[in-house]
Amino acid sequence: MIKVLFICLGNICRSPMAEAIFRDLVKKEGLSDEVIVDSAGIGDWHVGSAPHQGTRNLLDNLSISYQGISARQVTDKDWEDFNYIIAMDEKNINDLNAIRNQHGEVVVKRLMEFVANPKEENVPDPYFTNNFEYTYELVSQGCKELFKEIRAAHNL
Ligand code: 4NP
Repeated sequence: MIKVLFICLGNICRSPMAEAIFRDLVKKEGLSDEVIVDSAGIGDWHVGSAPHQGTRNLLDNLSISYQGISARQVTDKDWEDFNYIIAMDEKNINDLNAIRNQHGEVVVKRLMEFVANPKEENVPDPYFTNNFEYTYELVSQGCKELFKEIRAAHNL
């Protein structure tokens, strides 16, 4: 079982978008029993909230389910539970490193590190830009490449 956790600042815009998109890719490839997907935020401001309206509109337009997704904060246990902790930007990585409690096997990377020649190193935060389409363009590209890498690494 491979476990993937997407991280952003508030866990209402970017990382739930990535969670829904990645889970959809996994499901379409019939790998839902092999790959578990979740997301969490660095901050606790929106704990328990559904994804932001902009993320929900975008996912609705693509008929991608976000059922059951509600915001939570990253926990100590996540470092033991997940094989991949994938952040939206460098600030998230710095925040994660500050709270990291073990240095085991977990892969901690930015999503755009999986894309060759990415348009951006960091996924822009639509909470501030209001550009959910551009965020989606990057997140979906990153998710596809991450999925390829995970499949290759684990013979899925
Ligand atoms: P996200 O966007 O990290 O993509 O979920 C944000 C959502 C809320 C806040 C910041 C970023 N906030 O400060 O409440």
